[in-house]
Amino acid sequence: MAATAVMSAAAMSAQTPVYLDSSRPLEERVEDALSRMTTQEKLDIIHAQSKFSSRGVPRLGLPDLWTDDGPHGVRPDVLWDEWEQAGQTNDSCVAFPALTCLAATWNPEVARLYGRSLGEEARYRGKDVMLGPGVNIYRTPLNGRNFEYMGEDPFLASEMVVPYVQGLQSCGVAACVKHFALNNNEVNRHTTNVILDDRTLYEIYLPAFKAAVQKGGAWSIMGAYNLYGDEHLCHNGRMLNDILKKEWGFDGAVISDWGGTHDTRQAIANGLDLEFGSWTDGLANGASNAYDNYHLANPYRALIASGEVGTAELDDKARRVLRLMMRTAMDYSKGAGSMCSEAHYAAARRIGDEGIVLLRNERSVLPVVPRKGGRILVVGENAVKMMTVGGGSSSLKAQREVSPLEGIRAAAAKYGMDVEWVRGYVGDVTGEYNGVVTGQDLNDSRTPSELISEAVSCASGADYVIFVGGLNKSPGQDCEDADRTGLGLPYGQDDVIGALARATRNLVVVNVSGNAVAMPWVRDVQAIVQAWFLGSEAGNSIADVIFGEVNPSGKLPFSFPVRLADNGAHALGAYPGVKRQDSDITDLEYAEGLLVGYRWHDTKKVKPLFAFGHGLSYTAFSFGKATADRNEIGQNGTVTFTVPVTNIGDRAGAEVVQLYISDPKCSVSRPAKELKGFAKVYLEPGETRDVKIIIDREALSYFDADRHEWIAEPGDFIASVGPASDNIKSTVKFRLK
Ligand code: BGC
Repeated sequence: MAATAVMSAAAMSAQTPVYLDSSRPLEERVEDALSRMTTQEKLDIIHAQSKFSSRGVPRLGLPDLWTDDGPHGVRPDVLWDEWEQAGQTNDSCVAFPALTCLAATWNPEVARLYGRSLGEEARYRGKDVMLGPGVNIYRTPLNGRNFEYMGEDPFLASEMVVPYVQGLQSCGVAACVKHFALNNNEVNRHTTNVILDDRTLYEIYLPAFKAAVQKGGAWSIMGAYNLYGDEHLCHNGRMLNDILKKEWGFDGAVISDWGGTHDTRQAIANGLDLEFGSWTDGLANGASNAYDNYHLANPYRALIASGEVGTAELDDKARRVLRLMMRTAMDYSKGAGSMCSEAHYAAARRIGDEGIVLLRNERSVLPVVPRKGGRILVVGENAVKMMTVGGGSSSLKAQREVSPLEGIRAAAAKYGMDVEWVRGYVGDVTGEYNGVVTGQDLNDSRTPSELISEAVSCASGADYVIFVGGLNKSPGQDCEDADRTGLGLPYGQDDVIGALARATRNLVVVNVSGNAVAMPWVRDVQAIVQAWFLGSEAGNSIADVIFGEVNPSGKLPFSFPVRLADNGAHALGAYPGVKRQDSDITDLEYAEGLLVGYRWHDTKKVKPLFAFGHGLSYTAFSFGKATADRNEIGQNGTVTFTVPVTNIGDRAGAEVVQLYISDPKCSVSRPAKELKGFAKVYLEPGETRDVKIIIDREALSYFDADRHEWIAEPGDFIASVGPASDNIKSTVKFRLK
């Protein structure tokens, strides 16, 4: 090429506008872009232009933003304006295990792997914002969306969400942490007004969001559907302006949940930045284009034009959306990503392997002792039902999904064992969500007693009977937009398990769910495996654990109560709230306050069925005495606890050392104990390691609502260390000066 036709690099960069020059500081670029935009262009970028995308500014070369669910895989594309499938042939994904499973790994490095793998898939699919992860606290086992969240403990959820967000965003894909906040059940989700004291808000419901923002650096947050202080959470002045933006310094964009925006003036004033999903059909609700009629579109413009509102809020919103754009769509160094790679399948399997929780294992019935020519009977619909389809917005179109039966069959074949499957019960035979179909025909017209007789007669002579049941992703179970109606297993599964327990002495129950379930037969079965919704590699992970290829190391991220009334919210009748007279609002008071999950069980001495943090292994660990490096600290000091843990069994395995803090004498009442540190340690047989956990004043503090600050009150504290919240091996007393 002739020299004259080539522009020098220096001349090019002199011509590159600041906002397009990625070598310039982000804030300079944002201000530069903003200064070039008209009011209309600012309005254009703060609301949706389609179901999942918002506009850029074509005149300035600012790109559109593409969002997608989230959080367990990249959801298939829908039509521009509808929930129906776009019918692409290249949008099948790897389905990763549900977030409850991730939380059950108690391994932050696995959370980073999760975020990173998902980010690569999102990148490949051209998505800028993934709508997840969710960190709403598990308050009641009835919540239909618990499976998408990270359990009942704010510390565990905080430790797990940070690396997930960092891993995802390292791919140039924003996390949109949801649903901020207090969206802890699905029933009446658009009309429930949550009432709680500030201490509970700050100590239980906010920490995981705060960690995601301040430590994880989350680039966006999704408002919740419900209300707090009589204001919808997608435009809630206290939550979004005062807490998220002012107190925490969040510089990203607040995105509404789909259809969560209800009021133009509140949306303008109360911290919403990007409006999505207000309505879906561009023909029925809009005079011209429905998106122009979004609260943050023409109605906002009209208020500016009439002088009723100024443009300061508009500039702030546009700035935040520009930041989001520059961090994602305009990060041209982020690479192409990858989809359905073997590495992603391996990540999905690893997450599943580490998150499965062995709840019970009498006579060490697991792992299966292979016997050539031996026979395994698998019973239950969940052994064959595809679980990646359904559940609401987290539903996926998985490229492949290994069912529990397929996984168990493949593993058994390696040992020359036969596997037979019978139905046991008929659950929900539908297999479609949002136009994605499983293609499975699960219809069966036999009666429950016929199915049970068949299962019982096949059980005789089997080396092992493995019942795979639990919940599924159908409405009213582990599914968005509704709650469960009870703690019990649906579809008469208790009868099937009871009958099998009488027919065999080697009964393994695999519970597939994202929620606690009642287990009236708990003592009649030999082993119980909590298997979660495990995604693409479900069957392989389950088989890994059942056959001992993997030594289970998952720990429960929430308590299993014996009965619903053993859960704090339900014990106090604080669910689902009381409907106001002459209004569609339901007031829901979180009467149990801080006593969520194990905090209730421990403080009120209500024995759970399986405790928070519980999970068995095929090996055994012994805990030596925990010690502290000092017995007195100042307000800025730290204490390092050391506990020697030894693998005293004959298999390599991992144990989670959990550290709980109690403040036995305090001017305010405190839960019996609270998780403030944990570490997962891998040990070879016979190996001992000193596990160290460091805490500081944050671990000792409570939130003083009157002073609006965290207080670490001088006095004695107790650190309790053990492998589960109900299995404390040693305690250490220390003093805060
Ligand atoms: C859900 C969100 C989801 C959004 C978009 C809403 O119904 O509550 O979690 O991200 O839809 O699908």
